[in-house]
Amino acid sequence: MEFRDVVRRRRMVRNYDPGRPVPPEIVDELLSHATHAPSAGFSQGWAFLMLDEPETVGRFWTATTPPGSGLPSGWLAGMRAAPVIIVPLSCKDVYLDRYAEADKGWTDRDETRWPVPYWHIDAGMASLLMLLTAVDRGLGACFFGIPPEQIASFRGEFGVPEAYTPIGAITVGYRAPDRRSPSLKRGRRGTDLVVHRGRW
Ligand SMILES: Cc1cc2nc3c(=O)[nH]c(=O)nc-3n(C[C@H](O)[C@H](O)[C@H](O)COP(=O)(O)O)c2cc1C
Repeated sequence: MEFRDVVRRRRMVRNYDPGRPVPPEIVDELLSHATHAPSAGFSQGWAFLMLDEPETVGRFWTATTPPGSGLPSGWLAGMRAAPVIIVPLSCKDVYLDRYAEADKGWTDRDETRWPVPYWHIDAGMASLLMLLTAVDRGLGACFFGIPPEQIASFRGEFGVPEAYTPIGAITVGYRAPDRRSPSLKRGRRGTDLVVHRGRW
């Protein structure tokens, strides 16, 4: 697929064909492309938890769904149909350590030096590469947040070290008809609104 078509066709898919598994070589390609994302100081302080078995995917939803959310319906029912979940995680310590190395020299590991948390940015860049790769391979994918109050149970369920923060999660699978997100009613903000040429 032409790159411009991949970019224009990408949208978050929130319902999947549960009977159609994702070929392992495509999952491997998603993960491999993720590692081609840029990263500050080439720190690569990211990690990816890949779940592709019904049992582990089920445990993900149990650990991350707030109690009392009721029976799976709507959003959750569609998302639960995804055969693959990839959780991108960021590790701040890798960045603080990397930038304390001789060529960077921030030996005090002071976090106030960081204009923005590059560790989350880099994991986000890797996530976008996975979303685009999914489109290129005829798949659907959706990046979504894990509720903050569920992070501890997610970590506990999958043995994720405290130093790693899930920046969200990505469902991957073959698309099934889904409802458009109500957020899309906002409309895309065009370049005339968001680009400031020459000065603000
Ligand atoms: C950081 C981030 C967090 C998001 N969290 C959620 C989420 O929790 N649930 C969800 O259904 N979509 C989530 N989305 C998807 C957005 O709703 C979606 O990208 C936006 O409405 C534009 O639609 P499109 O990506 O299909 O073009 C998230 C997207 C981003 C980038």
